Amino acid sequence: LGLSESTAVITGGSKGMGKATCLCLAAEGTRVAVLARGRAGLDETVAACLNAGARDAVGISTDLKEKAPVADAFRQVADRWGQLNVLVNTVGPDEYGTRGFDRTDDDEWLAAFNVGTLAAVRCVRETLPLLRKASWARIVNVSAHSTKRQAPSLIAYTAAKAATTSVGTNLSQWLAPEGILENTVSPGTFMTDGLRGYLEALPAERHIELGDLWDAMRIIKEDFGHPAFLGRAGDPSEIARVIVFAASRANTYMTGADLNVDGGSDFT
Ligand SMILES: NC(=O)c1ccc[n+]([C@@H]2O[C@H](COP(=O)([O-])OP(=O)(O)OC[C@H]3O[C@@H](n4cnc5c(N)ncnc54)[C@H](OP(=O)(O)O)[C@@H]3O)[C@@H](O)[C@H]2O)c1
Repeated sequence: LGLSESTAVITGGSKGMGKATCLCLAAEGTRVAVLARGRAGLDETVAACLNAGARDAVGISTDLKEKAPVADAFRQVADRWGQLNVLVNTVGPDEYGTRGFDRTDDDEWLAAFNVGTLAAVRCVRETLPLLRKASWARIVNVSAHSTKRQAPSLIAYTAAKAATTSVGTNLSQWLAPEGILENTVSPGTFMTDGLRGYLEALPAERHIELGDLWDAMRIIKEDFGHPAFLGRAGDPSEIARVIVFAASRANTYMTGADLNVDGGSDFT
């Protein structure tokens, strides 16, 4: 994929889809910087990346909800590599806020947009000077398939993700003259910690085998009305491969796209 001499930052890269993306990039020989808060998850991901073939890997602990720590994290990246080829924003919320419109107050709306939109915006802003120094550059933002089929309980989260998709489309147009390509990847249902936590909290009569991708999809279909043609949830490695192609030098002519990776749906 033309990534072997490249450098990449993955925000929210210590768990779930972000971690799977780090490992996929590492296997291509990429130098990987992982941004998240928790030190243990960062250290584990860095060790796994080096084991998978990364030429360099570093975990930077930062809170992407705050401007100054984000700027500091990218200063560390600049000091280490001087330039950057790839930014992947997979950062997502700790909890999705499933209370619906009537019970979502201003603070919750602001919190949803802070992590769901502004975290990615901050990272793009801090990254651009580094991307502009590189001979080629790509941005991938991870949104959500719920922007295309609404679940009423997920209103603030989904609105924030829709804003991220919109920002991405705008960026793809703005950055095209500089040869910087931006794409959005919209996941359906994936077996990550967030979903596991939701499933674990369900009562025994829902008959869940934890970790079972078919059981997980049954619950998501029942509770949120989001089925998938393939009838199962996805494994994070299955979306990581799509993200990494979009982020790679091999992607030369796709920009401004919003890619559904959702096990099949009739949404475009
Ligand atoms: N899982 C799904 O089915 C699904 C479906 C649609 C869309 N998505 C979206 O896809 C993306 C990846 O989801 P996922 O389920 O793989 O996520 P995840 O497993 O919950 O991982 C989230 C990552 O973001 C980091 N993070 C969270 N808040 C942060 C903050 N304030 N500052 C820095 N890092 C922070 C976490 O590490 P720390 O906690 O250590 O900071 C972790 O590395 C998210 O944007 C999510 O909204 C997921």
